[in-house]
Amino acid sequence: MSEQVFKNIIAHCKEYGFVFQSSEIYDGLSAVYDYGQNGVELKRNIREYWWKSMVQMHENIVGLDAAIFMHPKVWKASGHVDGFNDPMIDNKDSKKRYRADVLLEEYQEKYRKKIQKDVEKGRSRFGDDFDEEQFLATNPNVLRNKEKIDYIDNVIKDSLDAGDLNRIRDLILELGIVCPISGTKNWTEVRQFNLMYSTQMSATDDEAEIYLRPETAQGIFVNYLNVQKTGRMKLPFGIAQTGKAFRNEIIARQFIMRMKEFEQMEMQFFVKPGEEMEWYNYWKDQRSKWHHSLGANPGHYRFHDHVKLAHYANAAVDIEYEFPFGFKEVEGIHSRTDFDLGRHAEFSGKKIQYFDPEENKNFTPFVVETSIGLDRMFLVVICESFRTERLENGETRDVLAIHPALAPFKAAILPLTRKDGLPEMARKIMNELKFDFSCYYEEKDSIGKRYRRQDAIGTPYCVTVDHDSLVNNDVTIRHRDTMEQRRVKISELSEILKQEVSMNNLLRTLS
Ligand code: GAP
Repeated sequence: MSEQVFKNIIAHCKEYGFVFQSSEIYDGLSAVYDYGQNGVELKRNIREYWWKSMVQMHENIVGLDAAIFMHPKVWKASGHVDGFNDPMIDNKDSKKRYRADVLLEEYQEKYRKKIQKDVEKGRSRFGDDFDEEQFLATNPNVLRNKEKIDYIDNVIKDSLDAGDLNRIRDLILELGIVCPISGTKNWTEVRQFNLMYSTQMSATDDEAEIYLRPETAQGIFVNYLNVQKTGRMKLPFGIAQTGKAFRNEIIARQFIMRMKEFEQMEMQFFVKPGEEMEWYNYWKDQRSKWHHSLGANPGHYRFHDHVKLAHYANAAVDIEYEFPFGFKEVEGIHSRTDFDLGRHAEFSGKKIQYFDPEENKNFTPFVVETSIGLDRMFLVVICESFRTERLENGETRDVLAIHPALAPFKAAILPLTRKDGLPEMARKIMNELKFDFSCYYEEKDSIGKRYRRQDAIGTPYCVTVDHDSLVNNDVTIRHRDTMEQRRVKISELSEILKQEVSMNNLLRTLS
């Protein structure tokens, strides 16, 4: 998929009410997004599919909804206060502090503007014959500037991965980047800056600084004892949670891929020490099935085993998806040993263990974690399902071929005309179906235009009420992907929809 396809996807998400830039009327807030009327439904359905697959399908997994605010010691114990950082640099003349990566990104912006200028020149020179995609792929000036952008991206990534902050400073000097205030290149060393956002818990106590959680997992760890005891849970058992997390990200780009405020769906599975690899493989398999059940091209997914493990992990793998900009992590599965519970026991002074009645002994359970970003999964679903088709009559249509169980609306109820009692009959059908399915009612514009709009938001079925319906009590049902139409009795509609759009069928593929 090309860069242009990704741009089309972003534009489609906005045009059809899936994703908007946050606070757009005030020129937006970088790397923060809002979900519109259709996006919120798709997101809710993905979340529900994940939740049901975890909590409803496993007798030994229960849910939790922990608060975003947590005691500051949580983040000391988890290692985030000391180890969750971004690079900062100061200018010695202006005494101003900058994020080193942002200085570099702003520098890259110059090249992007140059590319934009060249595109505009090309367009005014070639008029209607101008092919932007081809121009971007072949024009030597554009390619040179793209190369410079990529070079900076690669150095940032490689140096951060290697923890080599001197290389980032060298790059700033190499590119001759100056402080916007003093105009000099008199830079300090690059130092680490924490990614967690903080706020004040109390209006009167300046000391009471607390963090917005950068992951939901810690809410599960600190509630391990509460849930285990009140739920009388026996090992192995899991606690699942979905919710917002916040990170002051270094490279916040690529739409909803890397956001400052995002949502995670995490499950911590507590097991006996020594059994963790068996469960790690089980969850690797389960989560893979979950992703594949949604019908994506299998070639678009791959596992990426971590070679360099975090000090507390004894196995880790990423489930990656091939986005238009390459393979990127969507979900992580980590065998986290007893690190988290052990650290919370140490920092809280509480005994956080499990009593095994069979072995008559206490021990700290090991944890296997599955952690997926809801927004990234949303992007997977959109990227996988978006296509522009050329029709036999020469027109094109944009389709979101989303799995019917995840589609924002399951059926659109469309009276062919706005008279002769057709709207009344369509409303009656709508009022019956809406108890079981989210349906969309629409009577404005030609039927063709209405079909196109439903294709674009991924509605799997359009139900058209025409004059024959009044006589025969039947309707035309049109399938989004094949565009095939067939006549069915109104009394059969509910059963047909149930067969096709039910989440149960998806859940059954997991066992
Ligand atoms: N508790 C483990 C944990 O948080 P992570 O790899 O940092 O691990 C898990 O995050 C998932 O959360 C990622 O695989 C990704 O899908 C999502 N994620 C992380 N940072 C994100 C961001 N800034 N924007 C959107 N999603 C993000």
